[in-house]
Amino acid sequence: MCGIVGYIGFRKADQVVISSLKRLEYRGYDSWGIAVKHNNKIMLVKRVGAISEDKMHEMAEGNIGIGHTRWATHGKPSEFNAHPHTDCSGEIAVVHNGIISNFQSLKEELEKKGHKFKSETDTEVISHLIEEFYRGDLKDAVSKTIDVLRGSYAIVVMHARKEELVAVRYKSPLVLGIGDEEWIIASDVPAILDYTSRVIYLEDGDVVSLTKEGFEIWKGNERVERKIETIPWSIEDAEKGGYDHFMLKEIHETPRVIEDTLFEYISEGVDIDVSFSAGISEIIFIACGTSYHASLVGKYLIEKLTGIPARVEFASEFIYNQPPMSRSLVISITQSGETADTLEAMRIAKKHGARVLAIVNVLGSTATRIADHVLYTRAGPEISVAATKSFIAQLVILYLIALKLSRLSRSEIERLAEELRVMPELVRKVLEQEGKIEQIAGKLAGYENMMYIGRGIGVPIAMEGALKMKEISYIHAEAYPAGELKHGPFALLGKNTPVIASLVPDETYEIMLSNIKEVKARESLVIAVADEHDSEIEKYVDFVIRVPKTDSIFTAITHSVALQLLAYYTARERGCEIDKPRNLAKSVTVE
Ligand code: AGP
Repeated sequence: MCGIVGYIGFRKADQVVISSLKRLEYRGYDSWGIAVKHNNKIMLVKRVGAISEDKMHEMAEGNIGIGHTRWATHGKPSEFNAHPHTDCSGEIAVVHNGIISNFQSLKEELEKKGHKFKSETDTEVISHLIEEFYRGDLKDAVSKTIDVLRGSYAIVVMHARKEELVAVRYKSPLVLGIGDEEWIIASDVPAILDYTSRVIYLEDGDVVSLTKEGFEIWKGNERVERKIETIPWSIEDAEKGGYDHFMLKEIHETPRVIEDTLFEYISEGVDIDVSFSAGISEIIFIACGTSYHASLVGKYLIEKLTGIPARVEFASEFIYNQPPMSRSLVISITQSGETADTLEAMRIAKKHGARVLAIVNVLGSTATRIADHVLYTRAGPEISVAATKSFIAQLVILYLIALKLSRLSRSEIERLAEELRVMPELVRKVLEQEGKIEQIAGKLAGYENMMYIGRGIGVPIAMEGALKMKEISYIHAEAYPAGELKHGPFALLGKNTPVIASLVPDETYEIMLSNIKEVKARESLVIAVADEHDSEIEKYVDFVIRVPKTDSIFTAITHSVALQLLAYYTARERGCEIDKPRNLAKSVTVE
C-alpha cells in the first residue's frame, strides 16, 4: 500500500522525506518519488524500485517537501506513474493514497479544457483540478477540488510559490506530527516517529494548512481543534501499527480490505467485468495453499449460483490431469502472482488454448503478464507468511464473479450483493470476539493433533482453518468433510485430539450436529464456530465461537476470520515465531 509524507520546517526537506519514506518501506511499494520546493520551483525525483539517494544533490536546500511510495493500482509501476504528480505549469505537486473513483470523467473534462496528462494514474486529476481552482489561495483550491472528488483519499499538496503544505484526509489515514518549529504529515506513524511522538490523527474531511509558523485544521468553512496525542510505541512497534505481529495487524485490516476490493467492483450493482466468461463451457481453478482453498470456495459458488461446471486443481498437479479445452476458462488465484507452480500451470493452460483469468494481489507480477485477463484484490502488501487478509479479498472477488454470472433472480442477486456490502461490519463483529477466541486458544495450545470438520462450504473453511493452524503453531491439523470421519479418521479421535467444527446455517446444519454427537462420544474436545443466534449448539460442544448471522455462502468470510484468530492465538500461546514460520517463504518461486 502506498505511503505519503510531507515536511515543513527548518531541516533539509529531501533528507527528512527520504528517511520517513524508508520508515514506510515495510508496507511494500514498487516505485517512489519526492518533490522539494526551492527558489520558487518544484524539484522532482521519481524512480522505479527501491529508495535510493542518487539524485538528491539536485534537491538543494529546500525545507518544504513531499514524498510517496507507490503500490501500483491505476497504471503499471513506472516513473511517469510514480508520485508526486504535477499540473501543466509544474508548480503544483501532489501525493495521494486511495482511489479516485470518478477520475475518468474528471480527466475527460479537464482534457477538454486543455490539460495534458502525463500518467495513467487517477491521482493526476487532483493536481490539474487544483490548478483549475487556484487563485492564490492553496487551501481554498484544495477544498474546491475535494468537493468534486469521489472515492477515498489522503492528499498532500505543495505549490512552488507558497511557503505552505495543504493536506486532506477522507477514508484514508493521515497523521500530523507536531515537532518544535517543524511539522511532518504522513499516512502512517512510523514515518513521523524519528522527529516527534506528538501527533494528531486527522478525521475524515479535515483540511490542514501547514506553514513554518504553525498549522490550522479546517472542516468546511470552520476551523476545528483536534486532540494532540503522544505515541507510546517504538518504531518497530509502529510498523506493526501497535500489534505484536504483522499477522494480527493484517487480520485486523480485513474490513478495510473488503471495502477497498468492493469499492473497485461494486457501485449501484455488481460492476465486475466478466467478459472473459463469454462462450465458456467450464471453469478450472488452479492455485496453491490458501489460494487453493479460495478456489474451492470459488467452485462451490460457481456451481451453486451459476450452474457452470467447475473443478479445482492443485497448480502443481495440473499437468498430470485432464487438460483444459479451448472453451475452458482457467482461473488462477495467487496473492503474490509469483508462485512457480501456478505460473507453470497458467502457461500449460495457455498452450492448450484456454482463456486464463488471474486473480492477483501484486500489481505487475508475473501472473498478470501471463494471463489474458486480470482482476486485482485490494489487500495491500501482506508481510506475514500466513495469508489472511489476501484470502478474504480473493473470496470477495469470487463472490462478485459468481453473482455477476449467477442465474438467480435479480432481487436475489441484489439481496446477496447487499449482504456482501455489510461484510466489513460483520468482520468487525468477528474481531470483537478476539478476547473469547484467545481464551479458547489457551485451551488448545497444549495439544499436538487437531481435526477440522465441515460440510458443503464448511469443507474449504475447515481446510483453510487447519492450514493456518499447522503452519504457524506447528500443531498437526487435518481437515475432513464431516461425513468422511467414519471412513478412517475416526480412529484418530479421542481425548488427545480436539475437533473444530464449522457449523453453516444451511441444509448441512442438522447432519453436522449428528456428526458432532458422534465425535463427542469419542471424548474429543469440540469447538464450534456457529451463528450468533444458534441456541442449540451449546448443548453439543465444549466451546462456541460466535459469528454474526449472514447468508450461508458468506460464512467462508466470517468463519475464516475467526479461525485465523484461533490459529494466531494458539501459536502465540505456544511461543511460535508467527510471522516467519520455520521452513516457509511468503512467495514460493520454485516448483
Ligand atoms: C498460506 O498461509 C501460505 N502463505 C501459502 O499456502 C500460500 O497461499 C501459497 O504459497 C500460494 O501463494 P500465492 O497465493 O502467492 O500463489
